Amino acid sequence: MNSLPATVTFVDLKPPTGSFLGDVLAGLGQSPKALSPKYFYDARGCELFEAICELPEYYPTRTEMALMRAHAAEMAAQLDDNCVLIEFGSGAGIKTEELVRALRPAVYVPVDIAASALHASTARLAARFPDMPIIAVCADYMQPLHLHGLARFRKSQQVIYFPGSTIGNLTPGEAQEFLSGARVLVADGGAMLVGVDLKKDPEVLHAAYNDAQGVTAEFNLNLLHRINRELAADFDLAHFRHVAFYNALAGRIEMHLESLRAQTVTVSGRTFGFGAGERIHTENSCKYSVAEFQRLAQAAGFRPQKFWVDAGQQFAVHLMLV
Ligand code: AVJ
Repeated sequence: MNSLPATVTFVDLKPPTGSFLGDVLAGLGQSPKALSPKYFYDARGCELFEAICELPEYYPTRTEMALMRAHAAEMAAQLDDNCVLIEFGSGAGIKTEELVRALRPAVYVPVDIAASALHASTARLAARFPDMPIIAVCADYMQPLHLHGLARFRKSQQVIYFPGSTIGNLTPGEAQEFLSGARVLVADGGAMLVGVDLKKDPEVLHAAYNDAQGVTAEFNLNLLHRINRELAADFDLAHFRHVAFYNALAGRIEMHLESLRAQTVTVSGRTFGFGAGERIHTENSCKYSVAEFQRLAQAAGFRPQKFWVDAGQQFAVHLMLV
């Protein structure tokens, strides 16, 4: 682990490996089989996701980045300087820099389940903004969060930044529940800034999740690698393939891992049978029109305040207040 500057506190609330095993056994035991996308992000998974973000077909990252570059000052103008800026899924933290530069929060609280990405981005942000206190929290922010060390900032406006369209991993019902929890966390006077991928031409969506170089396929299959390594499993990666398609009815990209033949797999001594063509559902990536997302935000108790969309209508950043 790199040594961190004095402005940085690192809080480890990472879920124990036991919950990974429990989730995998439960997910493979159900029908249809499913695994949570939060488990994509081991060190290799983070690397592969960063490679996805640079792919010509994967428009969301560069589009959202351009929106932040163009409008961060306008976003910051709607918020209190001296606020508490909490970021969910901070990952590599590239977009955050734009917001932090414009907003100058009293304290920055990145929260991510991926320890390696959190360390790297925190070190970079601390070097760029040496006067800003940082409380980095390694945790699953989809679970109710108890953020320590924020007592002295409790009078400040609480702002949650949730970029990357990570909210798309949740179904609309789960997203509403998650936003309701976020609303309680920021409390009266609080705000939330959310990056959301827009509905668009299914062919553009399809290409973004079926890239020509096969990086997304490798990202998806890496989940099986991780299970083999961490949970004493014997998935044969040559006998599974990446599948991603747009489910128009549900308004989402779905990713699956498809068994190429009938086979059995053992995970920590438990055996699971797969039929030829049987799939493990590994990710939903829900897409929302501006109006759909605003309705969701309202149902969760937020007031939509402003939104920013690129000229190509690919991606939206929503600001909502309590
Ligand atoms: C990080 C959830 C926003 O859904 O586009 C990218 C993850 N999966 N390629 C997305 C992902 C396949 C990404 N999110």
